[in-house]
Amino acid sequence: MTAFAYRDGHYFAEDVSLRRIADACGTPFYCYSRAAVEARYDAYVEALKDFDALICYAVKANSHQAIIKLLADRGAGADVVSEGELRRALAAGVPAAKIVYSGVAKTVREIEFALQQNIRQFNVESEPELEEISAAAVRLDKTARVSFRINPDVDAGTHEKISTGKSENKFGVPLESASYAYEKAVGLPGIEVCGIDLHIGSQITSLTPFAHAFARVAELAEKLRKDGLTISTIDLGGGLGVNYDEKNDHAPSPAEYVGVVRDTLGHLDCNFIVEPGRSLVGNAGVLVGSVIYVKKSGQSTFLIIDAAMNDFLRPSMYDSYHAIVGERDSGAKNVMYDIVGPVCETGDTFARQREMPAQESGDLIVIEGAGAYGSVMASSYNTRPLVPEVLVDGDEFRIIRKRPSYDSIIGLDLDWESA
Ligand code: LLP
Repeated sequence: MTAFAYRDGHYFAEDVSLRRIADACGTPFYCYSRAAVEARYDAYVEALKDFDALICYAVKANSHQAIIKLLADRGAGADVVSEGELRRALAAGVPAAKIVYSGVAKTVREIEFALQQNIRQFNVESEPELEEISAAAVRLDKTARVSFRINPDVDAGTHEKISTGKSENKFGVPLESASYAYEKAVGLPGIEVCGIDLHIGSQITSLTPFAHAFARVAELAEKLRKDGLTISTIDLGGGLGVNYDEKNDHAPSPAEYVGVVRDTLGHLDCNFIVEPGRSLVGNAGVLVGSVIYVKKSGQSTFLIIDAAMNDFLRPSMYDSYHAIVGERDSGAKNVMYDIVGPVCETGDTFARQREMPAQESGDLIVIEGAGAYGSVMASSYNTRPLVPEVLVDGDEFRIIRKRPSYDSIIGLDLDWESA
């Protein structure tokens, strides 16, 4: 389904024109489509229907309560990486029994809080972390179900900043030392080993790295079982990419991805957990700004919009491509633009040399594929307030997060006398 599209020359989110939303809350704003999130979730459910599988939404992709809640209402669990995310998942109604706790280094406080909630499992990334979990479980008279996150040393073929499964990355336990780590876990009090976990990176658009990594995990599972361990669950992590660029990206569907799971791990007869983030919400959201000025300078024509790198960091941080379109399919002559924000950094650039119909001050500009790792990575750099978030459902929309006032932002600071 296409939740975001031109209709009669105007850009719509489902049955709501973006202009209608802009009139209600001003720009910039994030806009999410409920139907798009649900359709992607349902595609995972359908793909996994032959397996005993739990879809744990990677909350970090978009941790808005309304987004977590609509997935939880459909049966999703959650993958969290901090106490804050765990609290968000619980507050949105995800049962603790469906929450897995990942993350490279959990603090004692975070471990204790998660144990008190009786979460489903910890994905453990190091031996010192395992020891802390064991000690905390003993203190609290709890049993921690654990899987080790294995680093399979596989190149995910994605941007280096979001590649996590190579041996030089900080993540997980190296495959070579996995047997030793499991042996140690079995001997520790308060620990119940339940399976194996991995996550090799994000925005992965080829199935090959998954196939390689899963094959290594299958071998490890067989070996551990031979050693007498219970390996009942394999947590496959997230990472499935999306098409940001309809012309050049060819991300596999959840069904194709699950085909690889079946081929490499199906024979193990275990439960699966998947932790998709981006592939559930990435294309279910857009960031909408408006043109402040069109500025000609030397050879360049800058389309300066009121959204900036602090609102949406991906292009500055990962040089990521995002389709950018105007509010109106105006038929105006095409212009080659550099599309930038007003923040005082050259990195505040959304796209260079993009051809689009001529735009004018006040026109809405839509940055597509902003549903994942958009609002969650925003900051108020340059004292720019975090932008509102809007959820569309059919012909209705609601502002699910208001723009904070300047007073509320500045009021967080205490001067020496009042601190
Ligand atoms: N599970 C774990 C343990 C993870 O670390 C991540 C993402 C996921 C699941 C979800 O991965 P996904 O399905 O969304 O690819 N800020 C970056 C992406 C960072 C991903 C970090 N880990 C970006 O904007 O591209």
